[in-house]
Amino acid sequence: MIDNFKRNINYLRISVTDRCNLRCVYCMPPEGVKQTPHWEILSLEEISRVVDAASNVGIRKIRITGGEPLVRKNILELFQAISANPAIDDLSVTTNGVLFADMAEDLKKAGLNRVNFSLDSLASENFRDITRVGKFDDVWRGIQKALELELHPVKLNVVAVRGVNDREFGDFARLSRELPLHIRFIELMPIGECNPWAVGNFISAEEIMQHLQQEFGPLETQIKVTGSGPAKYYRLPGARGTIGFITAISEHFCSTCNRLRLTANGQLRPCLYGNQEFDLKTLLRSGAGRQELAEFIAKTIQHKPGQHHMEDGWTDRRVMSQIGG
Ligand code: GTP
Ligand code: 5AD
Ligand code: SF4
Repeated sequence: MIDNFKRNINYLRISVTDRCNLRCVYCMPPEGVKQTPHWEILSLEEISRVVDAASNVGIRKIRITGGEPLVRKNILELFQAISANPAIDDLSVTTNGVLFADMAEDLKKAGLNRVNFSLDSLASENFRDITRVGKFDDVWRGIQKALELELHPVKLNVVAVRGVNDREFGDFARLSRELPLHIRFIELMPIGECNPWAVGNFISAEEIMQHLQQEFGPLETQIKVTGSGPAKYYRLPGARGTIGFITAISEHFCSTCNRLRLTANGQLRPCLYGNQEFDLKTLLRSGAGRQELAEFIAKTIQHKPGQHHMEDGWTDRRVMSQIGG
């Protein structure tokens, strides 16, 4: 469906839980965030009804996010239900990968097309410091499994944080040379836990690029990688994978934004930023049918802002794990 700014909104990101089995320093306090009561979280059946209605207003791509989506009980059933909808042509997941390896085959059978992993360090100890939990080996096993099962393109999301993983950019780049992995450096956004120190620890995509060019020379430009997201891709000469940048701060991509978000507690968000949410849960629980839900989703799409105004400060009451990234 085309919105008021002539953008085609065909991508729905669904957060299925705000819980997570890691505690990344930029995302959560050590004790985790206050969890939403169980009854407020949409059931898998309710989420399936949303997908069914959304496909009626032009949604063709679904991404399952969290918190950590794979901690949600019976999550395979949701993948099965969504992939059975012929209107959905791309079903993906964003995961921290801790539980992925053992679920990968079942996820593929249930209709998963591709996977993005969040992985901020390739060094086991640094990974433990960033996530406050660790389990790097499990994540690495998950990534290998995704490659083995050809869940292509397999992407790694690396949030760039000064003093935390800035020594590893070259290692990530080298990994894209050896394996068909798509490394995406994400600019740190002042959301949630990282709010107070986001400014001091921010590294722009331009700075990362300079660093990589110093080490590897010029990168190939204008590379295409299947996906629906905002990353721009480059390649090291001869590499099997690519290097991408998600410039959430230095160069926003709102004019080509194609997405809508559903939070775990049933709120539709037209934009990642800001507090604007539309209460789909109440409608779902009042027994609304497909048509009524579709009209509500269409109305929400018409409320999508032309662009975000994060430079005015982050005033959101939610953290990233509640919005789903
Ligand atoms: P594909 O390109 O389809 O693979 O997916 P994606 O990049 O949209 O999905 P993923 O969940 O891997 O997103 C990566 C990160 O990009 C997110 O965690 C966010 O940090 C950032 N991001 C995703 N969508 C938006 C958005 O609408 N606005 C901004 N500013 N950042 C976003
Ligand atoms: N800034 C940028 N990216 C973030 N993520 C979580 N918090 C932030 C933040 N403050 C990323 C995760 C994951 C994706 C869903 O969002 O690392 O890759
Ligand atoms: Fe969990 Fe992702 Fe937040 Fe890390 S960034 S604590 S993996 S939700």
